[in-house]
Amino acid sequence: MELKNDLFLRTAKGEKTERPPVWLMRQAGRILPQYRKLRASLSGFKELVETPHLAAEVTIQPVDELDVDAAIIFSDILVIPEVMGLEYKMVEKVGPRFPETISGMDDVNRLISGKNAADELEYVYEALRITKRELNDRVPLIGFSGAPWTLLSYMVEGGGSKTFSKAKKFLYTQPEAAHALLDKLTETIIIYLKNKIAAGADLVQIFDSWAGILSPEQYNEFSLPYIRKICEAIDEAPVTVFAKGAWFAMENMGDLPCQVIGLDWNTKPSFARRILGEKRVVQGNLDPCLLYAPHDEIRKHTLEMVNVFGGHHIVNLGHGVYPDTPLDGVKCFVDTVKSL
Ligand code: CP3
Repeated sequence: MELKNDLFLRTAKGEKTERPPVWLMRQAGRILPQYRKLRASLSGFKELVETPHLAAEVTIQPVDELDVDAAIIFSDILVIPEVMGLEYKMVEKVGPRFPETISGMDDVNRLISGKNAADELEYVYEALRITKRELNDRVPLIGFSGAPWTLLSYMVEGGGSKTFSKAKKFLYTQPEAAHALLDKLTETIIIYLKNKIAAGADLVQIFDSWAGILSPEQYNEFSLPYIRKICEAIDEAPVTVFAKGAWFAMENMGDLPCQVIGLDWNTKPSFARRILGEKRVVQGNLDPCLLYAPHDEIRKHTLEMVNVFGGHHIVNLGHGVYPDTPLDGVKCFVDTVKSL
């Protein structure tokens, strides 16, 4: 079946389009009253992630409510560490916690990886198949994974952190174990993304959410080579790489064999264009907090950004939308782009 709205995919593939497509990272989530209602009726976040027809339902909610140009499968990046052998808990109002963490080579050696791990995530693939069917080709469906470094940081740290100093210490003090873990993650992520594409994902995005805490040298050694390996292995669908805080690596990002580069809100659009060139497809990058502002401001900044990027651009925020963002601010942002 042909997609009814393929603006997002055509832009990702480098075509010139009538207007830029728009969607929001974390659009499937707490900004929507229908999400909050469903979520309140369940035992927790993981029940939603692990029940395919419910994950499909919340994936489609923002397409119905906001009329965005793409859907992103409802899931979490932490399903990969879990299936490799480190169970996670999502603690209400706190965030993810790993009761067991990785502290050395012995722990790394115990992890399951590659096909043996990735093929266990059948509930994710089933959610994609259901979503694809129920979306009925209205818009493309995005699949995703955490980048190896970002997943390593949770597995070593045991949860979120301001500094991620434990994870960084691991890189400095046990580089061999770090590389072994990154290899295992990379192997698993490649199969996982291929499985997601086979189950219906039209594009896959890699989230390197903690790129920005590494030094440029560490980023070049412990993150980029693994992202490159993933990009090189995926040729079944376009790939977006979103590395938050990695403006210092912009030149190297530009050389990645991926179709789209995601930009965070600290990156000046003119700077990104200067480094990446006019033709590189970019995604982003309004400050999520702008959506709290008066609508005139939202419109003004959105139009300014679209103007500076000047095409080959997928409109999005510079990181996930915050849960308490007013829905009318989100709608103003989407409608501004859709009226172009
Ligand atoms: O973008 C979407 O709409 C799709 C769904 C999605 C979720 N997590 C749902 C979610 C995606 C793409 C993710 C990715 C993810 N998860 C990342 C990378 C993107 C980023 O934000 O940098 C990271 C770092 C995680 C790990 C994670 N999951 C954290 C730190 C948290 C807790 C913080 C929070 O927002 O509460 C989660 C939970 C989570 N993942 C929620 C949602 C909707 C909130 C769960 C709830 O309580 O309902």
